[in-house]
Amino acid sequence: MEPTFTYPQAINKAQLYEAFLADFRPYIEGETDIISLMANTSAALHEAFGFFWVGFYIVADEQWLHLGPFQGTAACTRIRHGRGVCGTAWAEDKTLIVPDVDKFPGHIACSSASRSEIVVPVHDKAGTVIAILDIDSARLAAFDETDREGLEAIVSTFEQTLFP
Ligand code: SME
Repeated sequence: MEPTFTYPQAINKAQLYEAFLADFRPYIEGETDIISLMANTSAALHEAFGFFWVGFYIVADEQWLHLGPFQGTAACTRIRHGRGVCGTAWAEDKTLIVPDVDKFPGHIACSSASRSEIVVPVHDKAGTVIAILDIDSARLAAFDETDREGLEAIVSTFEQTLFP
């Protein structure tokens, strides 16, 4: 059956993450190609949540993240370790929630429409950061602890699928 990640408008955000994860887990099961996984994860999240921009930056070497699969407007292709929200989440190896991107020192503006952002690191089996999931909203303060929990669970499923 054709996969669909469309959910009723009436459910709250926590329920939406729960419903998404229940469909997402079997959907990606057995896929170990990182690009395929990133492409479909971006598309599914975009469809379900309507984020302005959702995609991955991939660790290329010790210094650089390179743009990976995403849904949204064309974006910056390279981000240096420790720079911007993405490079900082990579360096600190933790999820970052930025309620107002204009107030984040060194924020890299790929699109002026982006107002808030959440970034979640992706790890290999050894616990090394190999990529980051980056999500932008056109609304201020769009992300909270529910998003952190939901997206970290999605990334954890992604990691277990990629590294069985
Ligand atoms: N704002 C990000 C750059 C990536 S774009 O949002 C797609 C940052 O500061 O790292």
